[in-house]
Amino acid sequence: MIDFLGDWKRSHYCGELSADNIGKAVVLMGWVMRRRDHGGLIFVDMRDRDGLTQIVFDPDKNRDAHKKAETLRNEYVVAVKGVVAPRPEGTVNPNLKTGSVEIIVSECKVLNRSKPLPFSLDEHIEVAENLRLKHRYLDLRRPVLQGNMILRSRVTQLTRNYLTTNGFLEIETPFLTKSTPEGARDFLVPSRINQGNFYALPQSPQLFKQILMVSGFDRYFQIARCFRDEDLRADRQPEFTQIDCELSFIDSEEIISIMQGLIATIFAETLGVTVELPMPRLTYAEAIRRFGVDNPDIRFGLELVDLSNIVKNAGFKVFADVIATGGMVKGINARGCAGMSRKDIDELTDFARIYGAKGLAYVKMTDQGWQSPIAKFFTEEEIALMTEAFCAEVGDLLLFVADKPKIVHDSLGRLRTHLANKLGLLDKGTYSFVWITDFPLFEWDEESKRWAAVHHPFTAPLDEDLANIETSPGSCRAKAYDLVLNGSEIGGGSIRIHQEKVQSLMFKMLGLAEDNAREKFGFLLDALEYGTPPHGGIAFGMDRLIMLMTGSDSIRDVIAFPKTQKGACLMSEAPSLVDLHQLKELGLKLSVKGDSKG
Ligand code: AMO
Ligand code: AMP
Repeated sequence: MIDFLGDWKRSHYCGELSADNIGKAVVLMGWVMRRRDHGGLIFVDMRDRDGLTQIVFDPDKNRDAHKKAETLRNEYVVAVKGVVAPRPEGTVNPNLKTGSVEIIVSECKVLNRSKPLPFSLDEHIEVAENLRLKHRYLDLRRPVLQGNMILRSRVTQLTRNYLTTNGFLEIETPFLTKSTPEGARDFLVPSRINQGNFYALPQSPQLFKQILMVSGFDRYFQIARCFRDEDLRADRQPEFTQIDCELSFIDSEEIISIMQGLIATIFAETLGVTVELPMPRLTYAEAIRRFGVDNPDIRFGLELVDLSNIVKNAGFKVFADVIATGGMVKGINARGCAGMSRKDIDELTDFARIYGAKGLAYVKMTDQGWQSPIAKFFTEEEIALMTEAFCAEVGDLLLFVADKPKIVHDSLGRLRTHLANKLGLLDKGTYSFVWITDFPLFEWDEESKRWAAVHHPFTAPLDEDLANIETSPGSCRAKAYDLVLNGSEIGGGSIRIHQEKVQSLMFKMLGLAEDNAREKFGFLLDALEYGTPPHGGIAFGMDRLIMLMTGSDSIRDVIAFPKTQKGACLMSEAPSLVDLHQLKELGLKLSVKGDSKG
């Protein structure tokens, strides 16, 4: 029989009770996590979002309640009245917040039953992710996921408080909009009223937030959903959330200062972690030079060492030839790794090959000097200079890549993190932030044979580089900055172009014909002509941030209803076929066979 809630009111959450409450009459409501029948006494671990409490049914104290307890199964929904009692000696559970007490139940209501679960909610049992995602409502009952969602809610709350206190207004921008390029494909929404026309879901609120600055709102923020149709990875979702900000009459320095304050507040208030301010900074050029990537993990060393000058005339043709044709030779000192087997080194070589390296030369530092298939190609002096450049000692393993700079940096940059992971240098409890500044404004896209914006087309060049946009685009730097945490880009932004002429020039440089630029961004170009203040902003990837804060391996663990790598919601079964009449109404016809209902 199912009981009604009636006039029962909950007095406490399950995680709240402690020895301070002993003797108190309480009313708890929640789920049966586990039931243990000891013949006489029945123990139930009762769970709600706050935690667990042990409740005890004693047949000698209350026969009716005990009878009900006999019918309880996992995930039944119950309400109990009872008194908080100390646990008998020897049964205290120091690992549980409520572990020193239990509730002696006097009355019990079964508010609902549950079918046997398709998988165990026990944290220690591995369950296939697809099964978890199909029954996400159950998966979300697990304390880890509950904790992730609670932290996420705290972070949005703190963000709202901090930004509002700093003069930001929360303003919503549309979902049904025109394409904003952030480098991904758009999700399109067909218009019924304007058949043949499509809205695009925003890849970010970029253009609208800039226009809010034109309108004089001065400081804007939004916890904004963004949509990008791109290949998914462990840290990417097709819809994700940004903490999106824009400010007027401001420079990069002030934005960085306000935003690192936001991050420090979030970390202090949620994790109790003190983030040292100001956060360290690296220019893009220095990040690439020392770490090979623009999102370096600076929790550990293993920095790249440039050997090009030392080996440019060496007898090892692979190295000398690469340098003669404009390439470089760099290496990493894997400290203490000289003991690695041939197999280990082959694995590292295969890893470097993924990023284009043609090989991975290596040297083992032994007490007899260099032990390496390439040692014979170098003079004693070259060997001494390289040993010094690496600060190498006996027991170290030196790894080299010779190639075009991009391949050297990509492969060694990734290898660096791969090695750190293998060597156990990635401590999840350490949070290393670094701002990356002075990005290039453009990068050359080989495929389309055009310049592309590194950040986005609305980013301003450094003042001193403005004059060189047309003559030397490759050397122009941008007023752009990214915030990197433990090797993940958690935010990025820039000072924007606020003059119509410069924006038009930028579009031209990006190969956008004037009529095309007008068609796509006419409203922005128009707005820029009516008194646009200098402005800039930033957006943080909130899901990524929470993922790092919780030490989760997947972005899916910090989103209530995430999509799979294939972009599917296994619970609601989206995306799905639609009725033929819906397509008709939209004026659409499918060219894929059999892909509509009815
Ligand atoms: P950007 O494209 O760098 O900048 O995005 C900002 C941050 O959003 C996060 N992010 C993602 N998180 C999860 N899944 C994704 N698919 C995904 N893509 C991006 C990253 C990233 O740092 N409008 C600009 C910001 C600005 O200039 O103000 C923008 O969107 O953490
Ligand atoms: P090889 O002369 O091809 O037998 O190569 C000798 C060593 O140099 C091997 O360990 C290769 O992995 C390595 N090697 C070959 N090409 C490169 C390269 N471009 N960069 C770094 N090491 C390389």
